Amino acid sequence: MSTLLNVRNLVVELPAQKIRIIDDVSFSLEAGQTLGLVGESGCGKSITCFAVGNMLPRGIAQTAGSIEFGTDHAVVGKAGKPTIAMIFQDPTSSLNPVHTIGYYLESALYRHQGLKGSDARMEAMRLLERVGIDRAKSRLRSYPHQFSGGMNQRVMIAHALAAKPQLLIADEPTTALDVTMQAQILHLLEELKAETGMALIIVSHDLGVIARLADRAAVMYCGKIVETAPVAELLDRPAHPYARALIDCMPSIDAADLEPPVPIPGSVPLLDSLPEGCYFRPRCSRASGECTARFPAPARIGLAHEAACYHPVAA
Ligand SMILES: Nc1ncnc2c1ncn2[C@@H]1O[C@H](COP(=O)(O)OP(=O)(O)O)[C@@H](O)[C@H]1O
Ligand code: SF4
Ligand SMILES: [Mg+2]
Repeated sequence: MSTLLNVRNLVVELPAQKIRIIDDVSFSLEAGQTLGLVGESGCGKSITCFAVGNMLPRGIAQTAGSIEFGTDHAVVGKAGKPTIAMIFQDPTSSLNPVHTIGYYLESALYRHQGLKGSDARMEAMRLLERVGIDRAKSRLRSYPHQFSGGMNQRVMIAHALAAKPQLLIADEPTTALDVTMQAQILHLLEELKAETGMALIIVSHDLGVIARLADRAAVMYCGKIVETAPVAELLDRPAHPYARALIDCMPSIDAADLEPPVPIPGSVPLLDSLPEGCYFRPRCSRASGECTARFPAPARIGLAHEAACYHPVAA
């Protein structure tokens, strides 16, 4: 397999306030692979994705590090470059309420594939059908407010597919949906990945979602990756106390599992008042004096498994 995305020592800041949002983040992704980014709200998952997609909000800047995207073998889009597409948490507010679904999809098809008129309409219908929306011909005349959240998320996915992406970034794609719709959207993403061979970055605060879709997972805390591992290994043998705590607070539906979920004490610190040393220290039951000195560097735990902790949880 070839490396599609290589992020090295990425730093993203709010320069005006001198606040570091993403701090020395490195990861890579092979073509066709799925990476799960997990962590509590505010840990920097979305900003990492925006940096990768070159869509950082105004006032936020990449100040160090590199992001390389593309392989020699990648199928290229209209502009001659491999493409990244992104879908977001709240599909309804991501769609423009004054445009029809047809307009939205056909403009993307023109932009990415140069399709116009009836060619664009036919392809828009095909995409809508592919993402599971029936009566596609009449639905092209609908507006986002006439669709449910789940249908709008399907439209967002169809829009992303119009770009024929080599990488799809799905930032909390199911968080705003009810559980049956969540399962359908995850299933659709699985199918599309298998069909198109695209790589996927799936972002979620829910380890269940990551476990279902990802090959590898990276756990983020306060703008840093604190553990990265193949997803099954992370779930079985987490090394970082934060990853362990995230797993322990997942509810189980297994009747034989009598352990109640254990909440993580405290909350994620604000970026302008991070604790000295390890940022997880005030919430960590394994903390020692050593943890106050400096943030631990990532250390190898196993094959393709690293954690940034002075006292990793024993396997
Ligand atoms: N547009 C913005 N302006 C200023 N700070 C932001 C902005 N977006 C996010 N942040 C800050 O960046 C940090 C990381 O946010 P984010 O990546 O959205 O977290 P996550 O996706 O993990 O919930 C948070 O502290 C958040 O408050
Ligand atoms: S470095 Fe120390 S405080 Fe941080 S997670 Fe590891 S044991 Fe806990
Ligand atoms: Mg987010």
